[in-house]
Amino acid sequence: MNQKIKFMELTRVVQEFFADDLIQRSTTLYFNSTKDRNVRILDIGTGTGLLPFKFENETILNGTDFKLSIDGIDISEDYIQGANSKISNTSSNVSSLKFHIMDGQDLKYEDNSFDVVYSNMGIMLYKDILRGLKEIHRVMQQQGIALVNSWTEAFPLRIPLNAAYDTLDLERGPQGAMFSLKDPQHFETLCKEAGFSHIDIEQVTKEFECPLEVMMEIVKSSTQFSEMVKRKFGPQIDPILEKEWLSKIHARIETEYQPQNGQIQFVCTGNVVTLRK
Ligand SMILES: C[S@@+](CC[C@H](N)C(=O)[O-])C[C@H]1O[C@@H](n2cnc3c(N)ncnc32)[C@H](O)[C@@H]1O
Repeated sequence: MNQKIKFMELTRVVQEFFADDLIQRSTTLYFNSTKDRNVRILDIGTGTGLLPFKFENETILNGTDFKLSIDGIDISEDYIQGANSKISNTSSNVSSLKFHIMDGQDLKYEDNSFDVVYSNMGIMLYKDILRGLKEIHRVMQQQGIALVNSWTEAFPLRIPLNAAYDTLDLERGPQGAMFSLKDPQHFETLCKEAGFSHIDIEQVTKEFECPLEVMMEIVKSSTQFSEMVKRKFGPQIDPILEKEWLSKIHARIETEYQPQNGQIQFVCTGNVVTLRK
C-alpha cells in the first residue's frame, strides 16, 4: 500500500473520534431540525474519505428519508485515489458520493452549493486559513452549517515525533501548520473575518489507547519522520541503521508511556467550531 494512504488509514485510530464528534453535532444541530430531505454535503481535506464513508457504511441516518449527495475533496491525489478505491454505495441514504482533487482554499463550486460542510482536522494545514474559511462561507447555503476542527498541541503525532526528535537529537523546527489553529480565540477571529455571524467554539478532550506497535507504524509512514531522517542522515539511509534508530524511538516511547498490555494511553484535545452564515 502507498505510504501516504497507509499513514492516513493508521491515523484513523484517533481521527475517527473527531469525525464522529462533527457528525454527531450536525445531527443535533441540522439533520434533526431541517425540513429539507435532499442534503448536499461537502467534506474538505477528506483524506481517504473517513467522514463521508461513515454516511455510506454506518447507520447514521438509517431509517430516515434523507437523500444525501456527498462530495469529498482533498489536495492530495494519493488520498483521493485511496478514497475512490473504497466506494461501494451500500447506504440507501447516500444518492451520490464523489471525491475530487481540489484545494480547499479555492473551491470549484458555485456559491450556496452545500447545506452541511465538514472538515475534520484539515483547514489548519492551509497556507491561507482565512481564504479557506471564506471559501466555506461562500459555498454554504444561507441556512446551512459548517463543522470544522483543529488540533491543539495535544495532538497524537506529538508522541512519536517528540520521541524521534529527542532520539535523533534534532532541534525541533518552528511550530508547524499542525498547530496554526491551536488558539481558540485566533480561530474565532478568523471565522468572524471570513463573514460567519454565528461561531461556537468548544474544546474536546479524549483519552485514547493505541498499541505501541501501531504508533510505531504511524511514525514510520509519516512524511515528518522521513524528513527528519533526511535531515539527520542525508538523502539515503542504510536500512539497518534506520531500524536501529526506530528501535531507540520505540524504547523512548516505552519509557515515557509505560504501555499496559502493549497499549499506550494518551490524551488529545481538539478545537471544534460550529459555523453559520
Ligand atoms: C489530518 S488529515 C485529515 C484527513 C481526514 N479529514 C480524516 O479525518 O481522516 C488532513 C488532510 O487535509 C488535506 N489538506 C491539506 N491542505 C489542503 C488543502 N489546501 N486543500 C484540501 N485539502 C488539504 C491533507 O491532504 C489531508 O488529507
